[in-house]
Amino acid sequence: MREKRGLLIVIEGIDGSGKTTQARFLARKLKKLGLSVITLREPTRSRWGRKIRAMARSKISLDPQEELELFLRDREDNVKRHILPALNQKKIVILDRYYFSTMAYQGARGIDPLYIRKINEAFAPKPDAVFILHLSASEGLSRISHRRKKDILFEQERYLEKVAEIFQSLKGRNFYHLDATQSKPQIGELIFNRVIALLKKKKLLS
Ligand code: TYD
Repeated sequence: MREKRGLLIVIEGIDGSGKTTQARFLARKLKKLGLSVITLREPTRSRWGRKIRAMARSKISLDPQEELELFLRDREDNVKRHILPALNQKKIVILDRYYFSTMAYQGARGIDPLYIRKINEAFAPKPDAVFILHLSASEGLSRISHRRKKDILFEQERYLEKVAEIFQSLKGRNFYHLDATQSKPQIGELIFNRVIALLKKKKLLS
């Protein structure tokens, strides 16, 4: 079935690293080339994702394992309902966060990142490229508006430092580590060029 697939691209990084902007940039540029693109984000906007956000806003704090389970349910749903069908239709799927966020964030809460990776890879397709935008925890926090800071529970500086460290440690053939302090267009160019090269290699673009 592999040859039927489209392309799965993941953009990761701590909050404030600019990944959402880059995911949008990339989608826009690829669409301009006439390619069929879908952008998805995790946590999603559906049932489990809404639950995750509601929990983050409430005063109830989940233990790491419970938190992990919620993200896994949300992802299972996303994989089944959106990611796999789009890939089977040869679409380019751009994901704003995926299981590398789980490795980093729930890893930073004490769960072994390699275990997190293993349970995700049992059901979630492996991406063709993972772009990780690196930024220090303090810079990430300073880029987030006061309102969002209150909204997102998972972000204290010490915790985010651990998250950033795990993102730094991720290695593999399809990983591209980028310095998020570069300008947005510069980062956009780097990502775009790499994706174009991949599309050509996979014969999804001539
Ligand atoms: P975020 O991308 O900031 O979504 P939004 O902008 O819609 O709030 O993600 C929300 C938080 O969820 C973020 O702090 C990272 C965290 N997160 C995890 O802890 N584990 C995961 O597996 C994912 C996907 C996100």
